[in-house]
Amino acid sequence: MKKVELLNFTTLYRFGKPFETEATVIEKNLLVFNKTSTIEFFEINVLSDKTILTFKLEDKDRVYGLGQTLGGLNKRGKRYKLYATDDPLHTPEKESLYGSHPFLIVSEKFGFFIDYPSEIIFDIGYTKFSKMIITVHSKDFDLYIFNSKNNLEIIQEYLKLTGTPYIPPKWAFGYQQCRWSYPDAKTIKEISENFRKKEIPCDAIYMDIDYMKDYKVFTVDEDKFPDFKTFVSEIHANGFHLIPILDPGVKIEKGYEIYDEGVKNNYFCKDKKGENFVATVWPGYTHFPDFLNPEVRKWWGEKYKRFFEMGITGFWNDMNEPSIFFVPDNLNEYFEKIEKLKEKEIGLEFFMIKDEAVNLSNKREYYESFYHETPYGKYTNDELHNLYGYYMTKATVEDGFNKYISNKRYLLLSRSSYSGHHRIATIWMGDNMSWWEHMIVNIQMLMSLNMAGFFYTGADIGGFGANASPELIIRWMQLGVFSPLYRNHSAIGTRQQEPWAFDNYIEEIMKNTIKLRYALIPYLYSEFFSSVEKLKPFISPIFFHFDDETSKNIEDQFMVGDSIMAAPIIKPNARGRFVHLPEVKWLYWKASKVEDREIKVYDSGDYFVESNLNEIPIFIKENTLIALNEENINYVNEKNIKELTIIGLVTDKAEFEYFEDDGDTYNYKDGKYTKIKIKVVKNNNDYEFEIKKDENEDFISSIEKIKFEIYDEKGSKINKIIEL
Ligand code: GLC
Repeated sequence: MKKVELLNFTTLYRFGKPFETEATVIEKNLLVFNKTSTIEFFEINVLSDKTILTFKLEDKDRVYGLGQTLGGLNKRGKRYKLYATDDPLHTPEKESLYGSHPFLIVSEKFGFFIDYPSEIIFDIGYTKFSKMIITVHSKDFDLYIFNSKNNLEIIQEYLKLTGTPYIPPKWAFGYQQCRWSYPDAKTIKEISENFRKKEIPCDAIYMDIDYMKDYKVFTVDEDKFPDFKTFVSEIHANGFHLIPILDPGVKIEKGYEIYDEGVKNNYFCKDKKGENFVATVWPGYTHFPDFLNPEVRKWWGEKYKRFFEMGITGFWNDMNEPSIFFVPDNLNEYFEKIEKLKEKEIGLEFFMIKDEAVNLSNKREYYESFYHETPYGKYTNDELHNLYGYYMTKATVEDGFNKYISNKRYLLLSRSSYSGHHRIATIWMGDNMSWWEHMIVNIQMLMSLNMAGFFYTGADIGGFGANASPELIIRWMQLGVFSPLYRNHSAIGTRQQEPWAFDNYIEEIMKNTIKLRYALIPYLYSEFFSSVEKLKPFISPIFFHFDDETSKNIEDQFMVGDSIMAAPIIKPNARGRFVHLPEVKWLYWKASKVEDREIKVYDSGDYFVESNLNEIPIFIKENTLIALNEENINYVNEKNIKELTIIGLVTDKAEFEYFEDDGDTYNYKDGKYTKIKIKVVKNNNDYEFEIKKDENEDFISSIEKIKFEIYDEKGSKINKIIEL
């Protein structure tokens, strides 16, 4: 074990010879390595095939992090297995999801990150109540210890180590419509027209696997999309972005470009015999590109060019754990077993048949049986398992976007990811269900993923599997107003979830909800930029902002930026909910429509607040401001916003920094943006308003007028308009 000091209060302990994962962005070769035998906080046990780290938990210890995992925000009381898995049934006992983010904080004590790309088990007070037992299935890994008692500081340190969060284009803050089973161009066109006809704002429509010819990656089915280029330009002309899905599995089919090139150049992962490894996914038998090989990434990245040329700047890299339905030999063995059983009367054996079919997918032995050729040598997929999604995404970014449309910001979702992935793209939360129980999971995961640097992320709004009820879709769409990625997605065979899929009453509420989201974009976008600048989670638990004891127990309310606290209704038939309002006064906006301000001032405390089906509880923190755009827009880039409405409860002074850039390029990095500093100061019964435009000649803000709507502690409002 070797020890190295880096950053402010971080120590790196190097065990053995770890694989270079790219999770971190610091120059490790500049650091001096010293031998040491003890490690702060942990008792270490190095065994022949694994390393066990044990930390003694005190009763009051709370543990946060692990990015994309199930379980609460406080991770105590559960076992987690970080081994990327395509599991479409997110029930509470599940230990693995699609990604691996081995970063944890023991609240107010310390934080740590284990940089190791295969299985790590985190048993956090599950087997033994007072012990956190971490099993790394190796002797080669890096352990970073962040020795600070300040949770936020630990996150900032982790982000300095692993890199600044990715910033999507501004349009990605708009509403996005998705569904697996939009069968053809005609349907997608109708959907886009429906949004515009009904004046329901929307910025993106996704194309799931249905658009491909026989699920062959980088193809388009010409029967369903007869003139794809024209179709894309028509959809774009109407203000939508089209986002195609791409899966890594390449169909085995002679004459198919990707397959032929991959075979010819040895771009696919090999099995133990040195043959191209065969796995089954949507297209049937496929090979997996070896994304760990830089040459393969170069080849793959170039393939996106065909979409860039049509103006497509958003993609969705799926199935990249990689998901394996089965491998042919295993299926045959299974069929043989069933064949034998056919001859006898079965009872109990039926369960074996049933479970074995499900268990044919994503078996560990599959991942142990194929190889990657990396710049550092040959490894089994199992040894580097959690990196496949990251490297597929790296191909899209570094060998696709950056080479061919280098100054365009892109929206890129991946399903699988590893620590550090948040620098180049983001992830969504995978295949959840249209269950009320998955709304709290959505909230908890938003906070945990934000801690891991995925500031822009979200769940499938309305739930992917199972059927959404009208009430569930409304409440989830309301929760989604505060989710950075606001995408409604559902699975083939389930109930439709578009805003008009239910009835007129529900449609009206969905429309107002989406409009409210659009009204909030000036606030969300400005705060998002500021979060990235400060390396401070955009979505955060309320105890990151307040010190009271109650806040530490709240997992169903969250801060969005620094001013808004969301307290979504996530229970069926509820016409209100309990909220905890920490430490300060709060402006409660019972929002049904942007223009309707049903406003009330609350003192700190615990309350039951009422909220009808069409109402969204929004809490604005005392002495902070939010910025709204009240003009109707159909999509983010439809027109420049000329007026801002500033709302706040001001008892002393409040400030807000409005951020504006072109929303589409990296020019902001060269100072091409405007920040408008807006300040309201209360002097006795009078208010002073201050607007400072830090305008750069290269970027002129479109804002001409600022309308203030300021409340005092009694809820009385004063209005003021300032022309710029
Ligand atoms: C996977 C994805 C899901 C997608 C489906 C079909 O289940 O997680 O989002 O719709 O595949 O492509």
